[in-house]
Amino acid sequence: MAVNLLKEGKLLGIPTETVYGLAGNALNTEAVLSIFKAKGRPQFDPLIVHIHDLDQVEKYAYWGDGRLKKLAERFWPGPLTLLLQKKKMIPDLVTSGSELVAIRVPSNELTLEVLRKIDFPLAAPSANPFGYVSPTSAIHVQKQLGEKIDYILDGGECKVGLESTIVGVEEDKLCVYRLGGLSLEELEKVAGKVELRINNSSDPKAPGQLKSHYAPAKKLYFGEIDKLLKEHFGKKIALIGFGEMKESADIQFNLSKDSDVDEAARNLFRILREADDSEAEIVIAGPVPEHGLGLAINDRLKRAGA
Ligand code: TXA
Ligand code: MG
Repeated sequence: MAVNLLKEGKLLGIPTETVYGLAGNALNTEAVLSIFKAKGRPQFDPLIVHIHDLDQVEKYAYWGDGRLKKLAERFWPGPLTLLLQKKKMIPDLVTSGSELVAIRVPSNELTLEVLRKIDFPLAAPSANPFGYVSPTSAIHVQKQLGEKIDYILDGGECKVGLESTIVGVEEDKLCVYRLGGLSLEELEKVAGKVELRINNSSDPKAPGQLKSHYAPAKKLYFGEIDKLLKEHFGKKIALIGFGEMKESADIQFNLSKDSDVDEAARNLFRILREADDSEAEIVIAGPVPEHGLGLAINDRLKRAGA
């Protein structure tokens, strides 16, 4: 069923280890257009192309720098997206006119099974309305985009919970354009030093890096919790903390009681949604420790509050 819908150019909600995607045939411009439309996403924001196996890369792109292939060999299937020189068959619409295409092999068995049964790659952004928090369960997708998608594959909760880390090469330097589900420590163990080129502006090169993104509808404040609680005294607050929480508020969420950043990553987007759906007037969130996935979590919280 899922496979047939995709072959007809329809859209499918797909589970991945990072977040759920809104997938369509990457080689069919009509299908790709309907992805942009369903998400309300501007066409200058390019899409990631999903394949099932490293050997497929050469059909759609050039490997270029040897470090990129090495990273793929080590981390695929997994939360790593590579920016590679595209071949002609990838439509310009997918890359928003860029010569580079973003490619990854996701690690979810249901989705890999679908990818193996089709002879085209899947373009898939996160399955949320543009600018809102990414979905980490099928229910999140159903609630927000259910009417616009023909079918959602339910693969349970996402095991990583943060979008993929985006890596490319510029002037011989290995660069990270988006912090994500693969930590810098893991990356550098395999490929050596990387440079951070994380955007904080509205540079169309990586709009997912727009200063304000991943944002709940309620106003979110990110920073030192005790200070923020004082500033907003008297308001009904939803507080998002980590580990041992000294402060309290009307409504409380803990990203990880055991102070585990991987667990915090898995919980982050669900908790942001729950805080948004709560009776609180505002949301206050504090930073998590800056190791492993902690960097990417803080990056998302900062953008959620911008
Ligand atoms: O984990 C993920 O990467 C998820 C799952 C579904 O695979 N996908 C995802 O897609 O997060 P999306 O569209 O929400 O974010 C993709 C990011 C955007 O910031 C986009 O600008 C960047 O990747 N991107 C895509 N293609 C690009 C390209 N050719 N050059 C530069 N940046 C690109
Ligand atoms: Mg997204």
